[in-house]
Amino acid sequence: MRTQVCIIGGGPSGLLLARMLHNDGIEAIVLERHDRDHVLARIRAGVLEWSSVETLDRAGVGRRMHAEGTPHGGTYLSAQNRGFRVDYEALTGKRVMVYGQTEVTHDLYDAMDAEGTPVLHGVAGVTIGNPDSDAPFVTFRHQGADRRIDCDWIAGCDGYHGVSRDTIPANVLKTFEKIYPFGWLGVLSETPPVSHELIYANHERGFALCSQRNAMLSRYYLQVALDDQIEAWSDTRFWDELRRRIPEQAADSLVTGPSIEKSIAPLRSFVAEPMRWGRLCLVGDAAHIVPPTGAKGLNLAVGDVHYLHDALTRAYAGDPAAIDRYSETALVRVWKAIRFSWWMTSVLHKFPGQTPFEQRIQEAEINLLEVSDTAKANLAENYVGLPF
Ligand code: APR
Ligand code: PHB
Repeated sequence: MRTQVCIIGGGPSGLLLARMLHNDGIEAIVLERHDRDHVLARIRAGVLEWSSVETLDRAGVGRRMHAEGTPHGGTYLSAQNRGFRVDYEALTGKRVMVYGQTEVTHDLYDAMDAEGTPVLHGVAGVTIGNPDSDAPFVTFRHQGADRRIDCDWIAGCDGYHGVSRDTIPANVLKTFEKIYPFGWLGVLSETPPVSHELIYANHERGFALCSQRNAMLSRYYLQVALDDQIEAWSDTRFWDELRRRIPEQAADSLVTGPSIEKSIAPLRSFVAEPMRWGRLCLVGDAAHIVPPTGAKGLNLAVGDVHYLHDALTRAYAGDPAAIDRYSETALVRVWKAIRFSWWMTSVLHKFPGQTPFEQRIQEAEINLLEVSDTAKANLAENYVGLPF
């Protein structure tokens, strides 16, 4: 087979890139290891920066997002059960859109079906050939047959555990990593959200987050020890512990119910440099991972897709300059989001062995956010998303 851009990975990055290239008449084939239901069954975050909303609109997949998503103009922060609001719409003129990543992926698959862009599911043994030449190719097994795609460019949208990043030679690839000494226990429940906006809570018992999907679907998180077991967390224990960590008013009005999904996720910050090697370009989780505290995972992936789509359309129009700068351009924005997510995680979580002095420092940092518009504006500017 032959195509212009071979995209490895049928998650949000790969699908959005395929969609945007298709809209500009650039051919692409998407190779996905799992079947569609598996990809869509992943529970992921749900806060979109407005630049992501605009990118999805430009790609023509924003209709349901605007119909079913909820724009938020602010969020609550709290320390020791006392909360306050950060009005990022007043501070930045921008809002965010609360709309699940699973829904975004659904909308992209629907668009793929409508336009006929091939997404090959159930591929195995993907290997990347000659990425440092003008004639790269990808081999894989599909439906029991060995296949090969010759292409101009390869987009590595295959996530943290994919093959693309490992294709970059060890003497070229540099990685940066920070693993946090705790995890997030997440619960999804068919209950009305405790607040019309998200609540990020610092507490001496650990972090908590109150989020939502829609008026009858809520998402809550508790900081737990990395070696904690799901079995140790009954729904009752979860709700009791959540009440202890969030603002009193919210605790009093919390509606509880059976969890329909419960899982523990580790927290890490990770960056791989460069994000391009020859004809191979890394996108999204294949190149960087953020702890979910800043809600940047999907938004960073959309940023990369924005830059790579722009660079490839210019390259096909005869101007290679943008593709030559793809890695450095994307990494400038990536590192700022990595910093913001690290800062939010550092200020809002309880670290093992944290001293009372360090707890007070966190509380002073949060109190500064409460009383200083400058501090609030800095958080707001990063939370709503830095410009492309
Ligand atoms: N061959 C084919 N497909 C692969 C391979 C492979 N060797 N390895 C991984 N994949 C597929 C995975 O099955 C997955 O569907 O690549 C896809 C990668 O998707 P994601 O991990 O969702 O990464 P990305 O599309 O970059 O989306 C980033 O996902 O994890 C969240 O917080 C993150 O929101 C961010 C978003
Ligand atoms: C979520 O809704 O799952 C969510 C929201 C905000 C975050 C992380 C997760 O920072």
